[in-house]
Amino acid sequence: MREVRLAVVGVGGWGRMHAKAYAQHPSAELVAICDLDEERLNKVGDDRGVQGRYTSLDDLLGGEDIDAVSVVTPDDAHTEIVIQCAQAGKHILCEKPMARTAEECERMIAAAEENDVILMIDWHNRWNPPVYAAWQAIRNGELGDVRYIYYRLSDTVYVPLKMLPWADRTNALMFLGSHVLDTVCWLTEKRVARVTCRRREGVLKEMGVDTPDLFLTVLDFDDGAVAVIENSWILPQSAPSLIDCKLEVLGSKGAVYVDPSHSRAIAKYSEQTPHGHPDASYPDMFVSPEIHGKQLGLAVESINHFVECVRDGRQPLATGQDGLVNTRLLNAALESADNDAAPVALP
Ligand SMILES: NC(=O)c1ccc[n+]([C@@H]2O[C@H](COP(=O)([O-])OP(=O)(O)OC[C@H]3O[C@@H](n4cnc5c(N)ncnc54)[C@H](O)[C@@H]3O)[C@@H](O)[C@H]2O)c1
Repeated sequence: MREVRLAVVGVGGWGRMHAKAYAQHPSAELVAICDLDEERLNKVGDDRGVQGRYTSLDDLLGGEDIDAVSVVTPDDAHTEIVIQCAQAGKHILCEKPMARTAEECERMIAAAEENDVILMIDWHNRWNPPVYAAWQAIRNGELGDVRYIYYRLSDTVYVPLKMLPWADRTNALMFLGSHVLDTVCWLTEKRVARVTCRRREGVLKEMGVDTPDLFLTVLDFDDGAVAVIENSWILPQSAPSLIDCKLEVLGSKGAVYVDPSHSRAIAKYSEQTPHGHPDASYPDMFVSPEIHGKQLGLAVESINHFVECVRDGRQPLATGQDGLVNTRLLNAALESADNDAAPVALP
C-alpha cells in the first residue's frame, strides 16, 4: 500500500490536475473523488481508475479511509469543505484564493490547528522555475534591496467566458491577483503598508459575464518599496498564449526580468492557430506540460510537495497563514477599488 491515501473534492478543470498528480506520485494513492456533477465524477473516475466516487462530502468522509484531501471547488466554495475535512482529521491542500474573507480564513486555520492537520494553500508559483530563480537572486543578495516589482498576470477572455462557469462569482483579482500577491510577498518578505487599486468593467459585461475586466493594484511596502500589479481577463482569444505573465524585480544592485508565457521556448504555427486556448501558438511549458504521458510542471510540483509533507509529517512551504495574509490584501484592494482607488492601510 502507498503511504498517503488521498481524495480530491471538485474534479473540474483544475481538480483533474490534482487527481493526475496523486495518481502518478509514488507515495500517493488516489482513493476517492467527490463532485456534485455525476457525469464529471464518472469521467475522472474512469480516467484515473478510482473506485470511490461521491456526490456528498459526508459520504466520502464517512466511507473512506483517507489521510488527506485536495479542495478544488470554485473560489467561493472552499471554506466549509476545508473546515469539515479538518474536523474529520484530514490534512488539506486548498486551492487559491483561500477564502473570500479574513474571518473565513481564520476559521479554516483554527479548524486545522484544533484537529492537528496540515493546511496548505496551493501557491504554486513558489515552484515556478524562473520565479524561483528570482527568489534565489533576492535571497543570496545579488539584487540588493528590492525597491520595485512589476507583475502582470492576465488571461484571455477564454477563461471568464468559457473555462469558468462561475466567473461572475469571482473576478480577475481573486483568481489571478491572489497568485501575484502571494508571489510578491514571498519574493520580498516585506510588509505591505498600503494598497491602492483601480477596477475597470464593461467589456465582459457586454459579453454576458458580470465580472470586472481588469484590476490595477499598487502595493506600498513599509520601507518605501513599491509593487505594481496588473490582472486582466480581457486579452483577445487570438493571443498566442492563454496567459500573459511578466515579472520585473528591480533591486539596489541588480534586476531580474521573467517572461514565462511569451518566452518563445516553443512557437507553434499550424492550421489550428491562432485560435487561442487550447491551440495557443506559444504552448505552456512551465505550468503543466505533459511528457510521455507524465504530468510535469509547477502545477504538479506544489501538489507533490503536499504529498511529501503529509508523508513526512512536515509543515508545507505555503500555509493557511499565507492564505490569510493574501485574503486581507485582496480585500484591501477590493475596498480601494470600490472607493475610486482610495488608499487602504493595512493594520
Ligand atoms: N492554481 C491554479 O493555477 C489554478 C488554476 C485553475 C483553477 N484553480 C482554482 O481551483 C479551483 C477550481 O477551479 P476549476 O477551474 O477547476 O473550476 P471548475 O468549475 O472547472 O471545477 C470546479 C468543480 O467543483 C465542483 N463543485 C462545486 N461545488 C462543489 C461541492 N460543494 N462539492 C463538490 N464539488 C463541487 C463542480 O461541480 C466542478 O466540477 C478554484 O478555486 C480555482 O481558483 C487554480
